[in-house]
Amino acid sequence: MARIVVLLAHPSPEHSRVGTAFARRAQALAAADPAAIEVRDLYARYPDYLIDVAAEQRALADARLLVWQQPIHWYGMPPLLKLWLDEVFTFGWAYGPGGRALQGKDLWLVASTGGAEASYRPGGANRYFFDAFLPPYEQTAALAGMRFLPPLLVHGAHRIDDAEMQAQAEVYADRLARYPNWPELADLAAAAPCEVAADERPDPGA
Ligand SMILES: Cc1cc2nc3c(=O)[nH]c(=O)nc-3n(C[C@H](O)[C@H](O)[C@H](O)COP(=O)(O)O)c2cc1C
Repeated sequence: MARIVVLLAHPSPEHSRVGTAFARRAQALAAADPAAIEVRDLYARYPDYLIDVAAEQRALADARLLVWQQPIHWYGMPPLLKLWLDEVFTFGWAYGPGGRALQGKDLWLVASTGGAEASYRPGGANRYFFDAFLPPYEQTAALAGMRFLPPLLVHGAHRIDDAEMQAQAEVYADRLARYPNWPELADLAAAAPCEVAADERPDPGA
């Protein structure tokens, strides 16, 4: 089982430019060193949306880093990644009483937006700085005891030229290859402890 698990979550890879370029880089690293990186293409693996939860949880057992590689859809994640989260990060496994399976691992969001960086600000079409859309990701990581690493974001994905896109893909590949030896991780604190009480989720026995 791999040290880094990359989840690809692009609903229409045939139309993807950035996601495809990034996925190729991750897949090349995985092919060169399968013990280091595993790439799991969610939409290819589960076209019927029937997720093998046990297999997904097993894939994370020995991972230190989980990567969510996705286009931003409606200021968040595409639907199959959301379903994966609902079904794989279960109460009592990922969080809540006894839920410690992911404690101490890292979560890295690698995402592209159609909106240019300049559109993500007050007065722009997206009205908020992009950081405003990150807390659900960050807190999801914290609830599971995971560190949320500084995201890699490609804004204006349809406008950037090939040279810029390849430069970003190079950064991505370099980060994957060097993990966990990133300068900014030295000062990054562990996830804040977040306890969810047993009566804050449905009783599976009821
Ligand atoms: C259903 C849908 C929702 C989207 N929502 C957003 C959004 O909220 N913000 C944004 O900047 N771009 C949005 N986009 C644009 C995508 O993020 C963009 O097409 C993608 O990141 C480009 O990367 P790719 O070349 O890998 O497809 C949306 C696209 C689709 C199809």
